[in-house]
Amino acid sequence: MKLTVAMVAALSARESLAFVPSFNAVRSTSSTAAAQGNMCTVRMAAGMDQGASEMSSVPMGRKQMLQSAAAAAFGAAFVSANPSQSFADSSVDYKKVRADIEGIMDKDGSKGPTLVRLAWHSSGTYDKISKTGGSQGGTMRFSQELADGANAGLNNAVGWLEPIKKKYPSISYGDLYTLAGVTAIEKMGGPTIKWRSGRKDDDVAAVPPGGRLPAADKGNPMATAKGLRDVFYRMGFNDREIVALSGAHALGRCHTDASGYDGPWTPTPNLFTGATYFKLLKSISWSERKDFTPFQYQDPSGSLMMLPSDIVLLEDKSFKKYVDMYADNDKLFFEDFSKAFATLLELGTKDLVEESA
Ligand code: HEM
Repeated sequence: MKLTVAMVAALSARESLAFVPSFNAVRSTSSTAAAQGNMCTVRMAAGMDQGASEMSSVPMGRKQMLQSAAAAAFGAAFVSANPSQSFADSSVDYKKVRADIEGIMDKDGSKGPTLVRLAWHSSGTYDKISKTGGSQGGTMRFSQELADGANAGLNNAVGWLEPIKKKYPSISYGDLYTLAGVTAIEKMGGPTIKWRSGRKDDDVAAVPPGGRLPAADKGNPMATAKGLRDVFYRMGFNDREIVALSGAHALGRCHTDASGYDGPWTPTPNLFTGATYFKLLKSISWSERKDFTPFQYQDPSGSLMMLPSDIVLLEDKSFKKYVDMYADNDKLFFEDFSKAFATLLELGTKDLVEESA
């Protein structure tokens, strides 16, 4: 029997609430693209021409490119280029920082998913061979990194966090961006994530080459699956972890003025409701959204979407095994997600200490 969207959402919300006793955030589920700012995409800095990004299929005019470059520069104008002196600075009260991050979401619940994406994109540039990239240097604050097409829209999230950086100058940007993702996941009902402090900000020379983040579409399922593996294996992850991490698409939405894609994956984009994403992925009959570019999938009602890189998790046998496993087991998904996300945030870091230290 095919489940309807409402049935799956109701089921998932109930299971999630039972699983997460500290659930405390039910915010507006609507998020407009306008609320996310006016960011288009362009690669404009070191290594921008390397590899494909999730934006590679989105056409862009010169005006958009200029707007995008300006927007990236604007976002970065908030931030300090000076490497932070902070290093596991005991003067930072991380509980207070967490509370201030939660304050951002109290005003606008749709900002939570974008903070999660900021933490992931700050970390997902890691290359285990060259040991470059990752969250260690807090380099997402630089216009050069924000201007990578894959990071379109993240200048907004960088800007939202800047007043917190001003208030707690000793926290490093790397710590702030990763802590924002962890705080957002927990506030939206997701699992507890282990987080440690002590990233030390680096200067602009440490900005990783562009094109290190995964492409949503490489033209056909085999190429898209290979693209995911190339990127996540480079970080040191395996197929199970790729699928677990993809479950974050329970959150948030695509914005036409960022990635070019459009819409949320689930009916509750500001809630991390167990394995909802996997239940919907499996149970709905997804079809091509006609008359829309870039190519994406939609549910029969037209209200939900999937990227080609989401659908490929069903099409690839090894990925599908884990989709089935998580769709049937919210608890296991939360456990695996929590571990994989904590690992992601620490790729390439060193000398981290427990938050309370
Ligand atoms: C597997 C490869 C992945 C691809 C190709 C991909 C692609 C995308 C795209 C195209 C968007 C829309 C951005 C926008 O238009 O604003 C997006 C949003 C998002 N992604 Fe992913 N993603 C991937 C993996 C992940 C992972 C590993 C996480 C976290 C663990 C994640 C978390 C998110 C979140 C939370 C959003 C919503 C952001 C918002 O609402 O502003 N994604 N992703």
